[in-house]
Amino acid sequence: MNILLVGSGGREHALAWKIAASPLVSRLVAAPGNPGMAAQCELRDVSPTDVSALVVLAREIAADLVVIGPEMSVAAGLADALEAAGIACFGPTAAAGQLESSKAFAKGFADRHGLPTAAYRVCETAEAAKAALAHFSPPYVVKADGLAAGKGVVIAEGRAEAEAAIDDAFGGRFGASGARVVIEEFLEGEIGSLFALCDGKHSTLFGWAQDHKRAFDGEQGPNTGGMGTYSPAPVFTDALVEQTRTRLAEPAFAGIAEEGSPYRGVLFVELMATRDGPKLVEFNARFGDPECQVLMLRLKSDIVPYLMACATGRLAEAPALEWTDDHAACVVLAAKGYPDKPLSGTRISGLDQDFGPDVVVFHAGTRREADGNLVAAGGRVLNVCARGATLQQARDRAYAAVDRIDWPEGFHRRDIGWRVLGPPARP
Ligand code: AMP
Ligand code: GLY
Repeated sequence: MNILLVGSGGREHALAWKIAASPLVSRLVAAPGNPGMAAQCELRDVSPTDVSALVVLAREIAADLVVIGPEMSVAAGLADALEAAGIACFGPTAAAGQLESSKAFAKGFADRHGLPTAAYRVCETAEAAKAALAHFSPPYVVKADGLAAGKGVVIAEGRAEAEAAIDDAFGGRFGASGARVVIEEFLEGEIGSLFALCDGKHSTLFGWAQDHKRAFDGEQGPNTGGMGTYSPAPVFTDALVEQTRTRLAEPAFAGIAEEGSPYRGVLFVELMATRDGPKLVEFNARFGDPECQVLMLRLKSDIVPYLMACATGRLAEAPALEWTDDHAACVVLAAKGYPDKPLSGTRISGLDQDFGPDVVVFHAGTRREADGNLVAAGGRVLNVCARGATLQQARDRAYAAVDRIDWPEGFHRRDIGWRVLGPPARP
């Protein structure tokens, strides 16, 4: 089977690692991929939003399946174009992808289909948004409407900070994504990421994980795309999983099909485990990054038949997914300055060593220079992932590997998994 994998982050490297392990795959091409993915894929320098060039590439390599990694490809309508070209695609259409690409759409959708979520107001102007704050109590949740790589949300302790976030969004900080703003009720509870696959009609749960969204230890600093993950996560009790399936995931798949856009791919349900059960924080129309990384480490089944089944409406025939008993942890190494102004082009060394059988280092934002050196080329740059019999063991292995990588211009959190393991000992 020939597969085209679209994207270039750590999520896509983890997908490439898992897909390449499948005996069903004869050729795996990544567009554009990254230097780490060169170990698993042929790399082709096509942008993940250049839809027509991606269709041409899929035809050229006689792709049996295209796997979409990032949300920007979903929003650009890649699945729509592949469908028109008769090429099987894992990833939703742009219309179904609005569950992620517009927070206003997602909130309206939740209302239309009775999905539990935070109370909200969608505001078209800064004045309206500031006035809307009066209907909420602190902390205030201010969200840019469109895609902002996980950085478009501000939790403001007071009115002045909320107003500044509103001015920021309307002032163009997120480009067109900030042309509308959603003000939301603050949900108390623990946050979790649950994934479900759907083939347009049938769906199945894929797995769950917990992410650390703040940049610094102790949940300090700005929101990021995610600084580290672990799976399994104890917050996902059987009851929470079951409630999330029946109250959020399945009604979402039924609702989006009813609205004329059946969902094919993976839906990422970000939820708050509140006293009243799971409440939707947001949907994403793709795997989480870096949630995908820990899930790929734990997945025992070959992933390819499931990706294909989603793309071709045959999920009901697929056997139940199998998972190892392992725990997995992922530590994100980010460039200093991330998420605002990550320092680019700094040299990374030490990746060529053998970190042992339970450690995998995925590339997320790297570039290979002409002289062969590896440099940082993004905000989140490396994902150091490890498995273990316990979360403690997985995390210890991940940090041992982190400490052997030589990259002074990077930073990372030292407390991944603290909700389970407690805060790290002071140095
Ligand atoms: P999002 O980009 O929607 O995932 O939001 C980023 C982060 O902000 C989430 O991971 C939560 O930690 C937090 N957050 C978002 N919405 C809310 C809310 N309504 N109540 C509390 N925390 C929230
Ligand atoms: N790690 C959260 C996300 O992928 O949006």
